[in-house]
Amino acid sequence: MKIETMTIHGGNTIDQLTGSVNTPIYQTATFRQISMGVNSGYEYARTKNPTRSALESLIRDLEEGDEGFAFSSGMAAITTVLSLFSQGDRILISNNLYGGTYRVIDKVFKRFGINYTMIDTSDLLNVENAFSIAYKAVFIESPTNPLLGISDIAGISRIAKMHNSILIVDNTFMTPYLQKPLLLGADVVIHSGTKYLGGHSDLMQWVLYSAHKILFS
Ligand SMILES: Cc1ncc(COP(=O)(O)O)c(C=O)c1O
Repeated sequence: MKIETMTIHGGNTIDQLTGSVNTPIYQTATFRQISMGVNSGYEYARTKNPTRSALESLIRDLEEGDEGFAFSSGMAAITTVLSLFSQGDRILISNNLYGGTYRVIDKVFKRFGINYTMIDTSDLLNVENAFSIAYKAVFIESPTNPLLGISDIAGISRIAKMHNSILIVDNTFMTPYLQKPLLLGADVVIHSGTKYLGGHSDLMQWVLYSAHKILFS
């Protein structure tokens, strides 16, 4: 399917009840169980809701990933990804990340014992040299916000894999229309949907990320 068609039809299943070609907004907190402990696949809206599921499937299809997960903001998605790490883990980050991402790493996760090293990831040699110590993950944007710095996603992915590390890419400034980091070897992709994914500056706190199942299986 071409991406133009995918943006309309990806993840969008026809509503079984009415035949609606667009996904209805399910405004319910709780879903009735068919019998004790048996449900339709939906139980409680915080964990899963059909409207959100359609959005998650769409971003999964657009990024060609295994799973998609929607959050209330880009920072919520980033915080969730960083929560995968444990006390004592180290991450390698680009020196040109979005300020909010840097702040949550430096001011919040560092207090929880997740340490970081910051380097210029636009030079692959810097990335290679940094791996003289172990890192659980490399976190980059390409292009970066706001300086539009470029890093070689495929090259960094190769180095990360050689060292048993994963690559997280914030793809906010490109969207899957122009760049698909998972196909270049990244393991996790994050978006702030308020930017080019939404496209019209009329979408608040709408964000998702798509990830390879390696992390979530
Ligand atoms: C590259 C990038 N990542 C993440 C974020 C954070 O996203 P949000 O504002 O949706 O929390 C932003 C916001 O400007 C951003 O530009």
